[in-house]
Amino acid sequence: MSAPRPEKGLRARKGPGPLLEGRDTFRELEASRDRPVIEGLLQRAVPHDYLLPILDRWLRARGVLGAFDGKELVALLRLDDLEEGEGWIGAIRVAPERRREGWGRRLTHWGLEVARELGMSSVRLIIEDENTASRALARRLGFRSVAAMSHVVGRTTGGQIGAPRAMRPPTEPEVPEPGSLEGVRALGGYLLTTVPRPMRFVRATRERLLREAKEGTLGVVGKDPREGLCLLGPPATSGRTSESQLRLLAPLGTAAVEIFETACEKTAQDGSLLEGFLPVAGPWLGALQERGWVSGEQAFWGERIQLYEVEL
Ligand SMILES: CC(C)(COP(=O)(O)OP(=O)(O)OC[C@H]1O[C@@H](n2cnc3c(N)ncnc32)[C@H](O)[C@@H]1OP(=O)(O)O)[C@@H](O)C(=O)NCCC(=O)NCCS
Repeated sequence: MSAPRPEKGLRARKGPGPLLEGRDTFRELEASRDRPVIEGLLQRAVPHDYLLPILDRWLRARGVLGAFDGKELVALLRLDDLEEGEGWIGAIRVAPERRREGWGRRLTHWGLEVARELGMSSVRLIIEDENTASRALARRLGFRSVAAMSHVVGRTTGGQIGAPRAMRPPTEPEVPEPGSLEGVRALGGYLLTTVPRPMRFVRATRERLLREAKEGTLGVVGKDPREGLCLLGPPATSGRTSESQLRLLAPLGTAAVEIFETACEKTAQDGSLLEGFLPVAGPWLGALQERGWVSGEQAFWGERIQLYEVEL
């Protein structure tokens, strides 16, 4: 496994200028100047926000946009440039006492304007199905769902269920066309990047799979890469669980159980926990359940999540 890729954010480009609307200001936030108000907003916006323990790393890249009522920061989000015309919005947060006033909509709308100015032609984000407010906000801005998945956190059972098979890196000729992979199709034609945190979905191309193979984050289980192929990110720290390390998994082949159990075993070897995104369509969840994986015991599949996209 190579070192994690640096966060890209918007730093490679000239950032956006501020937008002034009466007493309201929309501008890019700066770690050196705005860190205390950013931290304060995150503390109030979401209980145990997963961003707080990783705040300094998260702020290192540019791309955090904020909305101010006078001097008060009331909303923020992060816009990342995923290159190749793709953008990613994450961490939309509005101060609890200022919700339903249009701040989320106006800031996200500005974020999409910025994305367009920076040359992005589509922007994606993920939302948990239970997050009614966020889904309403995304719909209002023209986002549509392109893939449904289940968020999984798993731990190996120590071989109780099945013997995990070896995982090996693919050779270059073995890296398949993404279109031939059921996992890619079930994820709407996208790949989960294995940049440890935060995760993003990028358009699946063979170049991107080859890049992952080069970085050592693509693993083959068994003989045929079209059946047993997964993206397994390097260990990463997350504030989301009490675990200090986890690895992200996105299964791409059809051999659901083999991929999952093997990836669980591999993560356990370095003391980390497996976090994955199993497509709701396709064999994954059903195959694991048939094999005896039970939510809440060896694994948890909790929130249903959808990937949303808007064309600019
Ligand atoms: C989701 C969130 C950002 C929305 O921000 P907001 O400023 O309250 O949203 P807005 O006032 O701009 O509303 C945008 C649209 O969503 C709708 N909406 C907002 N909250 C809603 C709710 N709780 N239920 C139903 N609809 C809601 C509004 O009616 C509006 O639609 P409309 O213009 O057609 O009337 C805010 O609730 C929040 O910070 N939540 C906690 C953090 C979070 O979940 N972030 C998202 C992670 S992806």
